[in-house]
Order: sequence, then C-alpha cells, then structure tokens
Amino acid sequence: MKAIVIYFSRADENYAVGYVDKGNTEYLAEYIKEYTGADMFKVERKVPYAKDYNTCCDEAKNEVNNNFRPEIKEVLPSVDSYDTVFIGYPIYWGTLPMPMFTQLEKLNFEGKNVYPFATHEGSGLASSISDIKRICSGATIKSGLAIQGRNVKEDSSKTLVKEWIENN
Ligand SMILES: Cc1cc2nc3c(=O)[nH]c(=O)nc-3n(C[C@H](O)[C@H](O)[C@H](O)COP(=O)(O)O)c2cc1C
Repeated sequence: MKAIVIYFSRADENYAVGYVDKGNTEYLAEYIKEYTGADMFKVERKVPYAKDYNTCCDEAKNEVNNNFRPEIKEVLPSVDSYDTVFIGYPIYWGTLPMPMFTQLEKLNFEGKNVYPFATHEGSGLASSISDIKRICSGATIKSGLAIQGRNVKEDSSKTLVKEWIENN
C-alpha cells in the first residue's frame, strides 16, 4: 500500500479549544502517518483565514455561499503514485473547507481507495461524504471517520483512528 494523507487544518482561535498552535485535524493526520507511514500533504489557503474564530467563520461562510475556490499556497499535482488517499478536514458549514475543493478538484482519483476523516463540533461528517463522492469520481470511498475536535488529543481518539484503519 502506498498512501498519502491530504488534509486541511487551521491553528489560531477555534470553537471549544481557544487559541491553538496546531489544528485538531492535524493530530488525526499525524496518527494516520504514525500507523501507516503515509506521506503527508497539507492544503493551505494562500491568504490564511483570520486568526479569530468569528471572522474566520464569516470568511468561510462567504466562500461556501459563493461556491468559491480560494487559491492555495501549493498545489499537489497528482496522486498517481498512490493507491490509497486519506482525505482529512474540519467540517466548515456542513462540508469540507473550500480550499480542499480547490485542491481535490485538480486530482484524478480513478481507481484509488479514499478514506475520509473529519473533525467537527457536532455535525459529524455532514454533507462532506456526498461532496467527496462527487469530487473523487472513479474512486472507492471507504467509510468515513468523524471525531469531535475537542477530543483529538485523548487516547480514545488515537484508538478510534487505529481501529478505523484496521477495520478498513
Ligand atoms: C469556519 C468554521 C466553520 C465550522 N463549521 C462547523 C460545522 O458546520 N459543524 C461542526 O460540527 N463544526 C464546525 N466547525 C468546528 C470545526 O469543524 C472544528 O472545530 C474542527 O475540529 C476544527 O478543525 P481544525 O482545528 O483542524 O481546523 C467550524 C469551525 C470553523 C472555524
């Protein structure tokens, strides 16, 4: 198995955790790397979202309402050398953050196994799986993992990630 984790995660101020140096989803991405040896690619908005939570929410909502694809710092050109792609993200307004759409829509997922994982604060995976199915056409979409953001550092979350990988 050759795997890559493509993920978005935001530090700074967030709901339920206050100001943090590392985003919640990044913890899960690192657990996956630890268990699978996968490569990592972090999607970053070229102009980062505001550091404060409320302004970030407004910016992200605006992008969703306009179906906008923000520019990203670096584009991963291809996943051709991988057979397994983990896609990680926080739930933003019921789906993936729009910078993930910018990145994922540039890739060809034909024949790949895709493992979606998300952190959230109540919505679970929300609409993200149907969006991933649409974007990653031709891929096999495995069952997704959703973990509440405030819990990512707990041992139980690490165990959930491990079991999810083993069971899939
Ligand atoms: C702009 C924005 C929108 C959000 N929308 C939702 C949402 O629709 N549902 C939900 O359960 N949590 C929502 N959240 C909470 C995040 O999904 C949650 O805090 C997540 O763990 C953040 O991950 P990160 O630290 O990796 O960026 C939102 C947070 C932000 C900043």
